[in-house]
Amino acid sequence: MSGVGVVTLLLKPTDENIEAAATALKNGEIVAIPTETVYGLAADALNPQAVAKIFKAKERPQDNPLIVHISSLEMLNPLVNEVDEAAKSLMKAFWPGPLTIVLEKSELVPSIITAGLSTVAVRFPKNEIAQRLITASGCPLAAPSANSSGKPSPTRAEHVLEDLKGKLPFIVDGGECEVGLESTVVTTKGGKITLLRPGAVTLEMLSEHGEVTVAKGVLSELEQNEAALSPGMKHRHYSPKTKVIMVESELEPFYSLLKSKSGESIGALLFEGEEKGVEIPFVCYGKIGDGEVQGHELFSALRRLDSLGVDRVYARAPEKSGRGLAVYNRLLRACGFDVIRLDKKGE
Ligand code: TXA
Ligand code: MG
Repeated sequence: MSGVGVVTLLLKPTDENIEAAATALKNGEIVAIPTETVYGLAADALNPQAVAKIFKAKERPQDNPLIVHISSLEMLNPLVNEVDEAAKSLMKAFWPGPLTIVLEKSELVPSIITAGLSTVAVRFPKNEIAQRLITASGCPLAAPSANSSGKPSPTRAEHVLEDLKGKLPFIVDGGECEVGLESTVVTTKGGKITLLRPGAVTLEMLSEHGEVTVAKGVLSELEQNEAALSPGMKHRHYSPKTKVIMVESELEPFYSLLKSKSGESIGALLFEGEEKGVEIPFVCYGKIGDGEVQGHELFSALRRLDSLGVDRVYARAPEKSGRGLAVYNRLLRACGFDVIRLDKKGE
């Protein structure tokens, strides 16, 4: 039923519609669901044929494993072999919420989910509609972000429709996602916390539960033959069609850079309030220093860059602290690690 040509319906989250979506999931169908981070493309995690439909619809590389979503702590036990103390402490503090924890998997978890790894990534989302869907379907749900592979993650039901229309029967419309960036991903292997993907549960928040190592690949590009602790780090991500270049600098040197390119087909990704006097096409994404609003608006802003009608966009870089670290990490990938660093003189 999920081949191209299926009629895709947007469903409001009424009891009746939740029941219909849950039944489809139970029957091995894929359904897009809202979460507090981004929309997910869900399937019964214990049904390999259903999970295969996710990879097909997204055109996702088979070597990139999926997150399994649960709606109670009881659902965790059958999926994992062991939960160490570090993981327990993080679950107590941040579940339900935007934190994914990588744990040793049990026999029950099909290898298509984990791309053959011995670990499984698990998340207990806070979003009430997501919880109702998981509970009503009666199965843990595998769900990557509901975008075509490589595109910015969807933060509204319309974004899912834009990317996946005709490839799934239902999108449950929960409105705009609260956070707008995907969950924080950590592993607690060996009792130590390693940050694999920054998110709304920040490095600072995690550090209250022990020493945190930031995995290589979070803030810099991995070498071609370097192993990724999280396979998703290797793949191109969040990219609009328009070429994006991130500029780490103060505002004045950034303006000077734009001026030096006048006459070229360029646009800008700015912070709110910085657009005065800018004469090229632009999109804004939150105020400077406000990682929460930046995170909420980034993916939507990246999608809008393609309608500016320019070849290249120069983007203002966020601060790397708090939620800003996650915003920086996503923008770094959106620009394919193409970064210009300017000092105060613009050099
Ligand atoms: O907020 C989110 O996490 C959203 C919503 C839908 O829950 N989901 C999401 O899934 O962002 P996805 O597939 O787009 O990103 C999952 C990330 C990938 O970078 C993947 O490589 C990593 O988690 N991952 C999954 N399983 C892993 C594992 N066993 N070990 C290491 N990394 C893993
Ligand atoms: Mg994704």
